[in-house]
Amino acid sequence: MTFVVGQGCINCKHTDCVEVCPVDCFYEGENTLVINPDECIDCGLCEPECPIEAIYAEDEVPADQIEFIEINEKYSKIWPNITEAKEPLPDHEEWKEKENKIDVLILE
Ligand code: SF4
Ligand code: F3S
Repeated sequence: MTFVVGQGCINCKHTDCVEVCPVDCFYEGENTLVINPDECIDCGLCEPECPIEAIYAEDEVPADQIEFIEINEKYSKIWPNITEAKEPLPDHEEWKEKENKIDVLILE
């Protein structure tokens, strides 16, 4: 199994998660992070680190965020690796409670 970054991360990117991952399997897009499911060892350390609870075990991803399983799988093979925390995105406070952030997800 793997863990999955869901829609909560979009436009927030707190990056606390990357500091605890023992196998450095987080990858960074412009306005979200993703986890490489082939590298994740299912340790669960990242899940409680995210201040906005954007990370789920694969079998606990909410039904309305199922597409993020594929997004994590696909884009973790395209985007660069991130292993050190950095400042969250500037408007993270404004975005943290929003739903359906997939509409503003930048996939490039
Ligand atoms: Fe990394 Fe463990 Fe989180 Fe997988 S579950 S992304 S290995 S910290
Ligand atoms: Fe995103 Fe949470 Fe990590 S907001 S960058 S999944 S700590």
